[in-house]
Amino acid sequence: MSLRLGDTAPDFEQDSSIGRIRFHDWLGDSWGVLFSHPADFTPVCTTELGLTAKLASEFERHNVKTVTLSVDSAQSHVEWIRDINETQSANVGFPIIADGDRKVSQLYDMIHPNASDTFTVRSLFVIDPKKKVRLTITYPASTGRNFDEVLRVIDSLQLTDHYQVATPGNWKHGDDVAIVPSPKDEDVIRRKFPKGYRALRPYLRMTPQPDR
Ligand code: BEZ
Repeated sequence: MSLRLGDTAPDFEQDSSIGRIRFHDWLGDSWGVLFSHPADFTPVCTTELGLTAKLASEFERHNVKTVTLSVDSAQSHVEWIRDINETQSANVGFPIIADGDRKVSQLYDMIHPNASDTFTVRSLFVIDPKKKVRLTITYPASTGRNFDEVLRVIDSLQLTDHYQVATPGNWKHGDDVAIVPSPKDEDVIRRKFPKGYRALRPYLRMTPQPDR
């Protein structure tokens, strides 16, 4: 059964490049990005992990811990990290889970048998501090993910958790946002959005990003 938005992210204990990890304890009060890759010492995965390492300060600024996973061993992960750091001019500081027994892959439905019986696909889960799944994406082995997009979604989730707004297509930090349909009363809207708003239609009301 695959995980859906709003589900509790399953807890697990598993080996990793930094030792044993108890997932929920390791996350603590942070947001989390848990993502799988097909195998160590492969080109696309190497670039993905390098990118994630180079975005470490951005993830930290958003209170996000990153962790990745493949079915390779912890020893293989440690050796591969040296290669990633060297070839990508990066410093991988996040753990890589060693899921040789497929425990985590099965919990998170990361093996798609019609793509590959043995390797995890490129699954990615954003998990909030209440341990709820807030974003799921799945990419094929041959296509690397866009980690700027992952950060953009986290930016949107963190904004929309605090204000009654939604972010439009291609929104990026600083762009106008949409007032969600529920507040109808003009006075309530003016109080909640003191920067004002433009109503293009009654259901389409744009306002400057409230927390800037
Ligand atoms: C890669 O990471 O480059 C890769 C892994 C498995 C299949 C194809 C590409």
